[in-house]
Amino acid sequence: MTYLPPTRDLRVRLDTAQALTRLFYREQAVVLACGRWIVRTAPLELKAELGRTAWESALAADALRERVFELRYPTRFIDEQAEKLPLESADDLRSLLAELRDDYADYLDHVDELADGPSRRLVEAALRDKERQREALAGLDLSEDDPARDPRYFASPIYWPDVLDPSYPYGEGVALQLRSAVSHLNEVWAVETAGRILDELSPELGWEFTRDAARWLYDETRHMLMGKQRLDGWDLRAEAIPLGGYIYEAWQHEDPLYGLGMLGYFETKNIGRKRERAAAFHEMGDVTSETDMEFDWADETLHAEYGRRWLRRLLEARGEDPESWPAVLERCEQLVQERVARATDEDLERIRACADDLIATAETQAGARDV
Ligand SMILES: [Fe+2]
Ligand SMILES: [Fe+2]
Repeated sequence: MTYLPPTRDLRVRLDTAQALTRLFYREQAVVLACGRWIVRTAPLELKAELGRTAWESALAADALRERVFELRYPTRFIDEQAEKLPLESADDLRSLLAELRDDYADYLDHVDELADGPSRRLVEAALRDKERQREALAGLDLSEDDPARDPRYFASPIYWPDVLDPSYPYGEGVALQLRSAVSHLNEVWAVETAGRILDELSPELGWEFTRDAARWLYDETRHMLMGKQRLDGWDLRAEAIPLGGYIYEAWQHEDPLYGLGMLGYFETKNIGRKRERAAAFHEMGDVTSETDMEFDWADETLHAEYGRRWLRRLLEARGEDPESWPAVLERCEQLVQERVARATDEDLERIRACADDLIATAETQAGARDV
């Protein structure tokens, strides 16, 4: 013998890259399915779980993809997906999550701690996420409605009277706290918009867009939950709280280019206002609303950057002038005006009565707490 015998059972480097590639494509399929189905999921908690699952899976997929590049250095290459992943139902998604969990567990059983330490770290994190996601999405059930609205709430596409009647006051004190929480809750339009563009624009824009859009989606679900938790915390009955998505409805039958425009524009239009509101909540001593607004503001600065970058890239990918984005935003504004114009006097009366009642209830409750 002229050599020392092997001491470990090793996976070949390129085989490892292939195993990780397969995991990447399946995580990517999870991300896209979550985005695609958010609009057909009614309960807000489940929309939020889909957003979180999309983001966590995008983080896992991104780490897997980078690891594949490392293992294949100097070629920065990832194989074409060999298998088709037809995800058509909530059960298909749950099966895929279970399969991924098993494959991650199996990978850890065979990982070479020394040679493949970096993969071990990312696979451990992904395995933990899969366990949680499977439980969190156990009750997922897809509706035929687009958009599917949470039936516990007062359904009104235009969720506050000031959209139709600019003289309706934005409010101060309790009314401002309430208006702000209702706005957060009604970011459900942003959740649905982010979900659809994630799924529909990913083929044109590629993985980096998918990754950013998954974070964007997750952030909007967190903003929506901020509103939900505030309103739950004040003991306001869900059926008295308006929920709707007129901005989503404004573009839902249009090119997803306009969805991207809506999300990049309407969501960040009031970005300056958010700091003022945070200061007003601070004055009032409402630390929760202040903190929600501050974190929301930090997310929005990130989203403003996503909006600018991906709108230009999309125009470029379609052979158009990337600097022609202002025309897209103009069209978005017009689509929203058209949607608002479809609202009737009756719609205004309904939402006005709902908002007046809600403010009165909240003021009474706040007064009762002061005593
Ligand atoms: Fe938001
Ligand atoms: Fe946003």
